[in-house]
Amino acid sequence: MTSPHQPREPSLAPTDVVAIDGPSGAGKSTVARMLAKKLGFAYLDTGAMYRAVTWHFLQEGCAPSECAAEPDRGEARMRAALANARLELRDGRVVLNGRDVTAHLRVREVESQVSAVSALPFVRAAMSNLQRIVASHGPVVAEGRDMGSVVFPRARWKVYLDAAPSERARRRAQDFERQGRIVSENDVLEEILVRDRLDSTRSDAPLRQADGALYVDSTGLLTEVVVERLLAFVRDGAVAHPAQRREVR
Ligand code: DC
Repeated sequence: MTSPHQPREPSLAPTDVVAIDGPSGAGKSTVARMLAKKLGFAYLDTGAMYRAVTWHFLQEGCAPSECAAEPDRGEARMRAALANARLELRDGRVVLNGRDVTAHLRVREVESQVSAVSALPFVRAAMSNLQRIVASHGPVVAEGRDMGSVVFPRARWKVYLDAAPSERARRRAQDFERQGRIVSENDVLEEILVRDRLDSTRSDAPLRQADGALYVDSTGLLTEVVVERLLAFVRDGAVAHPAQRREVR
């Protein structure tokens, strides 16, 4: 995947995309990766794309918190930095201008700025473009916040994956622990609630359940059970449609 040359509008034909949206910590990444493997589809982690752009802005010294004092100049610098960013996703790694940045995507500085970066319309437009280009090359399982609502409104399958905030905090705290960072579940819960509010109240592509998306609450469910449920949904051949397929665990 490289930077787009042509702007892409959402396709009008149903597309071979499993669009998975939901709040942070709902288990989207693990579920989407496993589902993609079982289906033989590509896996597209769009959160990683926003994280990579955030990391790039931090490297260039123009992340939102760094340019808050001069918004116009700050935006011009971010636009220039974005124009110079060549993003590639290869086998689960994120490569920016030829450098593998995967290990940097979950550091604290990125975590604290990524919501602000992903609220910027020019960043969203560039990322959406890139995501549609990826999907034009073959079937994908794409996960994020606006896959079914904005980027792939004609996705053949749409899912909204949710979980109780306390469970999402517990899972995130475990993720951090695996990375060697000890963070209390309460602190993670607070961060999650702030992130939820920012992601769902921004004006451009806020997090919401897309029309016709299958609602799955993964609270208390094993990952394998969620994956099997989604696999059955895809294999049923059901096309997501408004007022169809709404399910609460
Ligand atoms: O899923 P994640 O935690 O890696 O996402 C990181 C951030 O990017 C999060 O604040 C939401 C944002 N994001 C977005 O706005 N749109 C997407 N399609 C994916 C992620």
